[in-house]
Amino acid sequence: MLTAIATMRHATPEAVPWKTPRDRRSRKSRAAPRPRMKPAQLRILSLKNADYTASGRSRCQIITDLLCSPLSEPSSKSLNKTIFLTGASSGIGLAIAETLAARGHQIWGTSRDPARLPRLPGLHPVQLDLSDRQSIDTAFNTALAEANHFDVLINNAGSGHFGSAERLLEDEVLRQFQILVFGHLHLMQLALKSMHAQGSGLIINVTSLAARLPVPFMAAYNAAKAAMAAFTMSIQLELGNSAIRIVDLQPADIRTAFNDAVVRDHIPESMEERVEKTWRAVENNMANAPGPELVARHVLRLMDSSNPPPRLTVGDMFQSKIAPFLLRFLPHRVQIWGLKKYYGI
Ligand SMILES: NC(=O)c1ccc[n+]([C@@H]2O[C@H](COP(=O)([O-])OP(=O)(O)OC[C@H]3O[C@@H](n4cnc5c(N)ncnc54)[C@H](OP(=O)(O)O)[C@@H]3O)[C@@H](O)[C@H]2O)c1
Repeated sequence: MLTAIATMRHATPEAVPWKTPRDRRSRKSRAAPRPRMKPAQLRILSLKNADYTASGRSRCQIITDLLCSPLSEPSSKSLNKTIFLTGASSGIGLAIAETLAARGHQIWGTSRDPARLPRLPGLHPVQLDLSDRQSIDTAFNTALAEANHFDVLINNAGSGHFGSAERLLEDEVLRQFQILVFGHLHLMQLALKSMHAQGSGLIINVTSLAARLPVPFMAAYNAAKAAMAAFTMSIQLELGNSAIRIVDLQPADIRTAFNDAVVRDHIPESMEERVEKTWRAVENNMANAPGPELVARHVLRLMDSSNPPPRLTVGDMFQSKIAPFLLRFLPHRVQIWGLKKYYGI
């Protein structure tokens, strides 16, 4: 099995869907001799049973961490860009900030409390609360004046809500939409204005696989992420021949402290069992998910690419590749049955 995974991974760096036409043309010529293996791949092949027992971690976790270990030297294409990144204080945003700073980029990274932001060379702390429109305007315009222009906007910040859909308060739905949709739309519009003036730019909207495969008892979150995904696709349709690129980046489960900030509603007794089962599955998936460096690595690749994909799913093999592929061909009734089985409800 290890050999099979390592062999699959062996093809992955070249098999990324946003390869340039030149990459594609050279595929046949790469078939023999095979490209040199990356150190992480060699380390996977040499793993022994003793490695798993000694570390006390699952095979899956060890392999995921090896696959997520840093790539080779940075491409010159990715050097010295200016980036506006929301939610740089923890999880995925923090991993992106650290990865980009290590590559020499200038990042204007946001938090509601800038004291939570790490001190990194090239990281400029910005105070931003997505629930406050004035804060968004001030944060972006002040940062833009300092940076002069932004090559990349990464709409990453967000938080979740857990509770019964049929009892959701309108205020809670509004709160989720303000943070996950309206705030990011406003930032995207501000960024597009300046990107149109400079003739280029990249916007990465971090939505979620939940936009396509909803998580039970997270209706407001699922709906907000789906709305952001639909809005992103609409702009992709409307951009015409513009050199501006917009990517819908959909993480599957990624190991962060996201669940700690999830607001949990009081649940009626009749639903308690299903809600608890779902929450356990959500926590368990998160604990066994790949680390946020995986997403950061993909962001770097997107920034390096002259033709990034309109949508990219990032996560473990099952959640990010196999499940969405299978569900695409299954009738809706079977999809719902499969998701209920997955969460044990
Ligand atoms: N982890 C996953 O499994 C997963 C899966 C799919 C999608 N995502 C998405 O990935 C993004 C990052 O999540 P994460 O897992 O990295 O979570 P996280 O560790 O909790 O980080 C969330 C970030 O968002 C910021 N934030 C939260 N509410 C905010 C608000 N009202 N205004 C401004 N900033 C706010 C937080 O900054 P401050 O608290 O410092 O303000 C923090 O930096 C989110 O959009 C999430 O929906 C995550």
